[in-house]
Parts: sequence; structure tokens; C-alpha cells
Amino acid sequence: MHKLKGVVAMGFHVILGDITRFRADAIVNAANTSLLGGGGVDGAIHQAAGPGLLVECRALNGCKTGEAKITGGYNLPAKYVIHTPGPVWRGGGSGEDGLLASCYTNCLILADEKRCKTVAFPSISTGVYRFPLKRAAGIAVNKILSFIKAPLYVKDVTMVCFDAATEAAYKAAYGEFTGKN
Ligand code: APR
Repeated sequence: MHKLKGVVAMGFHVILGDITRFRADAIVNAANTSLLGGGGVDGAIHQAAGPGLLVECRALNGCKTGEAKITGGYNLPAKYVIHTPGPVWRGGGSGEDGLLASCYTNCLILADEKRCKTVAFPSISTGVYRFPLKRAAGIAVNKILSFIKAPLYVKDVTMVCFDAATEAAYKAAYGEFTGKN
């Protein structure tokens, strides 16, 4: 049982950038269920981490959509990579919202277990998996903000957005939740 850490200013941030260059205790990978790499941010993370990441992923025997598994960070600035397969968008009637929410919550739980203070996410499922961006941003911000309200170790969560439209969507979602713009 973790002792509840002193409550200090927790942070949620939205930035434009490349998550493979982001210095956080853990970065999240928008993976697929094989965990054997792919394109998009998955490809970029494997490229930057080097071959050791794939060797470790192979031993994990995949990961179910909405769940998360953690590995080392290898050549990345991050100590850990948390791999989570997001849902493929099929129109919204196949539990996609709940699965996406689980991705964020399960990654934060794993980060906390590893006593990470800082975590960075890409915009899970809004690329190849075609999850509508605004809808995904609302789900992500809701789950992140409710998690860091009662953190054990995780103090700062950053959405690292790869393009301006994604950055704007997460900033808007944050503004809606907090009334801050
Ligand atoms: N840093 C941050 N974000 C990035 C980066 C990067 N270096 N590269 C891409 N992104 C962004 C995309 O622009 C998008 O906003 O990550 C978000 C998620 O897009 P994808 O990487 O396509 O991931 P996703 O939609 O979850 O689809 C996952 O794609 O790459 C394959 O193996 C992966 O099969 C899986 C699927």
C-alpha cells in the first residue's frame, strides 16, 4: 500500500512535439495488439528506442485493446515505455469510448506502480485507428484529470501532440473540463 504522498501542484500539459524526444519517466506508445511495432508513433518509438525494445516486446506476447504493458525505454530519454493498443474506430457502437478510456487509466496505473512522476501520452487511436479527434480528446482529458486528482506518484501528465490540430483539440478539451483556456 503506497503512503499517500504530499499533495503538490499536479500538472496537465498539452504541447506540440515528438514524443520520442520527450524527457518523462514514462512515455506511452499507441501500439497494436501484437506489440511488434508498426507505423505512426509506434514506429517512431521503436526507431528511437532501438532493437532492444522489440526484443522485450516479443516476450510480452501481445496486449489486449484497452490494456497496457510496460517495458524499458532503451535509447529513449524516457525510462519506461508503456504500450497500449487503442480501439479502432468502427462508428462508436463497439465500445470504443470505454476501450479508449481504459487505455489512459491502465497506462497511468502502470506508471504509478513504477513510481513515475512524469508521464507523456500521444493522442491514442486518432491516427491510423481513425478515432474522432475531439471525442478522443474529451475522453483522454477526463481520465487523466480524474487520475491526477488523487495521485500516488504521478504528478505531471503531458499530451505530446504531433500536429497543431491535435494540440488544439486537447487544449480545447482541457478548457472545457476546467473552464480555463
Ligand atoms: N510523437 C507524438 N505523436 C506522434 C508521433 C510522434 N513521434 N508520430 C505520430 N504521432 C501521432 C499521430 O499524429 C496521431 O496524432 O500519434 C497519434 C496516434 O496516431 P498513430 O500513431 O497512427 O496511432 P493509432 O491511431 O493509435 O493507430 C495505431 O498504428 O502505427 C500503427 O502499430 C500501430 O497498429 C497501430 C496503429
